[in-house]
Amino acid sequence: TKPKILAFAASTRSESFNKKLVRVAAEGARAAGAEVNVIDLRDFTMPIYDGDLEAQQGMPEGARALRRLLMEHQGFLIASPEYNGSLPALLKNAIDWTSRPVDGEDGLAPYRNKVAVLMSTSPGGFGGLRGLAHVRTILANIGVIVLPDQLAVGKAQEVFAVDGTIANDKQRQMIEDLGRTLTTTLARLHGQPLYEEK
Ligand code: FNR
Repeated sequence: TKPKILAFAASTRSESFNKKLVRVAAEGARAAGAEVNVIDLRDFTMPIYDGDLEAQQGMPEGARALRRLLMEHQGFLIASPEYNGSLPALLKNAIDWTSRPVDGEDGLAPYRNKVAVLMSTSPGGFGGLRGLAHVRTILANIGVIVLPDQLAVGKAQEVFAVDGTIANDKQRQMIEDLGRTLTTTLARLHGQPLYEEK
């Protein structure tokens, strides 16, 4: 069976550079044989995490839907913009809600032993590299295996055409390789028999 990868950007913006970036990585993962679902976080709206609201109404529907999708996939391709040297509240809030226990399930079930590859892009020179360090730490803390391979793509407006394509073949290949690496890692982790049986 094909590894299942969920791909998304931590931006709701329709012209988001990070959405364009993650789609290129998703293509690389598909080429390597993964089943990739690219989602838009705009379709998973949720309020800022609020413990009172959670106690009264439970997990918002948008968070539940996202959590369900995270549960169903073994790998995550995440392109995160950098806001003020860190990750956007959109992504942190989505992680906070979806890591809560619900319906008797362990809160961290969507994350534990999953494998993620991170990337970012920004109009600036560093491409959002500082934000990725924070995303990496947060995901590692909730049990995600975050692969060392990552890319921060600077000067986004020069890299991506309006339709999301990348003129520079070498650069496109490097981004596609992120998806390939995640796919081959998942195949290795899940495709081989266990040495010990429970
Ligand atoms: C930014 N931006 C930004 N860029 C960067 O490289 N480092 C940074 O620290 C910040 N900080 C920042 C804060 C806030 C509040 C905003 C709105 C923006 C610019 C950011 O990279 C740019 O808006 C990108 O285009 C956002 O990504 P998407 O939406 O194009 O994927």
